[in-house]
Amino acid sequence: MQSFQLHEHATSVPVNSYQLEEWQKGYESLREEFDYWIDQVEGEIPPDLEGTLFRNGPGLLDVGGQPLQHPFDGDGMISAIAFSQGKAHFRNRFIRTEGFLAEQKAQKILYRGVFGTQKPGGWLANAFDFRLKNIANTQVIYWGGKLLALWEAAEPHRLDPHTLETIGIDHLDGVLKPGSAFAAHPCIDPSCAEDGGAPCLVNFSIKPGLSTTITIFELDEQCKVIRQHAHAVPGFAFIHDFAITPNYCIFFQNPVHFNPVPFVVGLRGPGECIQFQGDRPTQIIVIPRHGSAPVQTLSTQSGFVFHHANAFEQDGYLYVDSVCYGALPSVEPNADYRQVKFEELEPGQLWRFRLDLKANTVERQSIESRCCEFPFVHPNRVGRPYRYVYLGAAHAAEGNAPLQAILKIDMVSGKRQVWSAAPHGYVGEPIFVPRPPATAATEQFEANGKALDDEDRGWVLTLVYDAKMERSELVILDAKDLTKEPVARLQLKHHIPYGLHGSFTSTCFL
Ligand code: CO
Repeated sequence: MQSFQLHEHATSVPVNSYQLEEWQKGYESLREEFDYWIDQVEGEIPPDLEGTLFRNGPGLLDVGGQPLQHPFDGDGMISAIAFSQGKAHFRNRFIRTEGFLAEQKAQKILYRGVFGTQKPGGWLANAFDFRLKNIANTQVIYWGGKLLALWEAAEPHRLDPHTLETIGIDHLDGVLKPGSAFAAHPCIDPSCAEDGGAPCLVNFSIKPGLSTTITIFELDEQCKVIRQHAHAVPGFAFIHDFAITPNYCIFFQNPVHFNPVPFVVGLRGPGECIQFQGDRPTQIIVIPRHGSAPVQTLSTQSGFVFHHANAFEQDGYLYVDSVCYGALPSVEPNADYRQVKFEELEPGQLWRFRLDLKANTVERQSIESRCCEFPFVHPNRVGRPYRYVYLGAAHAAEGNAPLQAILKIDMVSGKRQVWSAAPHGYVGEPIFVPRPPATAATEQFEANGKALDDEDRGWVLTLVYDAKMERSELVILDAKDLTKEPVARLQLKHHIPYGLHGSFTSTCFL
């Protein structure tokens, strides 16, 4: 295997790059819905940056003043920043889910949350209430003419991409039955051989139980489900994300135990009933995308994975690059999520797994020990050998801390670049946007996927919460050199609570 330089840049790192009280302020609800041109811009918005950045995340951390137990239980709110001719427009709207409308009307919590939010009235008021509130808060994608807000345990909500108004639950032309799941981590295969080289969207659903059913969906550019297959795998599975290659879907079945009793009797949310089991291996489930080859399961060291950076096939091996935690902290009932003791938790770190499907073996190698999350690669490199990955990262090279920096890793040279928003800034997921090709010749070159040297030609977009200003800004970095001053900083008139995922489309929705 190629070796990675773990050597870090010699930077002067303050002992504390952040203040917990400052970080906590990013978890205040945003109640207003805005619609304005961003007029406070430092630097210059690139005129060739055309399109719309959509982001999703919990906008409310309370209902009628009653705090949620965990931000993952917060109602989804979409932010859209549309770029056109060097200008940018901001808009945000809550998704009008059934639960959001009911709770806002009642001004109190009416549903139990997966991560421990309970209705008022103690366990008696919560026992045997298994209704799920589809909070639509995890990802937002524009695909096949539809803007879809995703939450992994239920159906997508369709929104108007111009106004962000909620159109309603989308069942993908009847493919999804009412109440069925559709994960929040679709992968877009940039060039699917089965479809004559057209892009296709690949996503999955998980039906957990004593054995778990994983269903794969592949959608064409019209948002039609063109391939669908289901597979039962042994044991309970908590799977948030997956990775694809041209031939495979890859899932990490984290070693966890699920005891539903505290949920059933109204004491805990189901997410609080999941216990990490460090003495058991992680199972890697490899599902062929096409044909009838069997599902293959491989074992590797124990660990917990939320997000994969990418996967690819090379030299007869299957490679998967993933952010891994040594252990999953239990979500403790009645604990305040804002009182995180960062230094006591294990950081997420980037690892490369090399799967030998013939020998059924896995080798793993550490790529990056700096605390990191939210990996992102060039959209044309999804499922293919790639060179650059962008991640949210801690300011300091060692230890666990909030994400305050953007890290770029060159997988070929091992070189790193870091841009940091410390001490007052907290970053979200970095989104890489390729710079539009200058000429038709470049376009052809890039379409062939051979422009590896130019894989970082573009921008990295990230929302940064500035705890001193108590506002958020969108920072545009030159992906070729993160160490430079940002290309532009777009200051919003308000804050945006820490979000989850987002996506960029080259269509500008104003
Ligand atoms: Co995620």
